[in-house]
Amino acid sequence: MLEYVGQFYRLTRMAGRTTLAMGWLRAGIARKRLVKAAVGPSRNLKRGISMSEAANSVTGDYIQMDQVDWVPFPEGLCKGDIKWKLLHVSPEQGAWTAIFDCKAGSSFAKHIHMGPGEYFLTKGRMHVRGGSVEGGATAVAPGYGYEACNAQHDHTEFDVDSEFYMTFLGPLNFIDDDGNTIALVGWRQVYEAWNAGA
Ligand SMILES: [Fe+2]
Repeated sequence: MLEYVGQFYRLTRMAGRTTLAMGWLRAGIARKRLVKAAVGPSRNLKRGISMSEAANSVTGDYIQMDQVDWVPFPEGLCKGDIKWKLLHVSPEQGAWTAIFDCKAGSSFAKHIHMGPGEYFLTKGRMHVRGGSVEGGATAVAPGYGYEACNAQHDHTEFDVDSEFYMTFLGPLNFIDDDGNTIALVGWRQVYEAWNAGA
């Protein structure tokens, strides 16, 4: 626990993003209680996560999605109304999968994909890297997209209500305008944030 609090404190202090740091710290404190209730003592996290956990668990093998509530995506990593459902984490390969509900006018903060990712835009429209009018791509539902390792997304915006599913291999490196890391968000961080907010 202290290791991750310290990591986020250093990263956010470096970037001067106190608000984001406090958000993650609060999430971490809440997680300490909730993860214990959900998956047992914290030593289980150090060993890895048992794949025999309860149904509808993000470490299980099936999610009944309509029985999972949407939760606001962590503050500081997006603007506007973005909610998410974490569907799966794979500690063995550092992968995580989620579905995002992005209302018109919302956007994700600047980030770099440390590993590749694949998405399925199920509803609406998503402008990636500024969209097609600025040299990027504009996905229109139903649309599939592949984002390569090290893809940098300065602008990921939604001008209409949209929804997409995505699997990430490796973490997202959220950065400020100078390229400093604000938060490194991999399977463990989303797992902790989800358990804190769900
Ligand atoms: Fe992205």
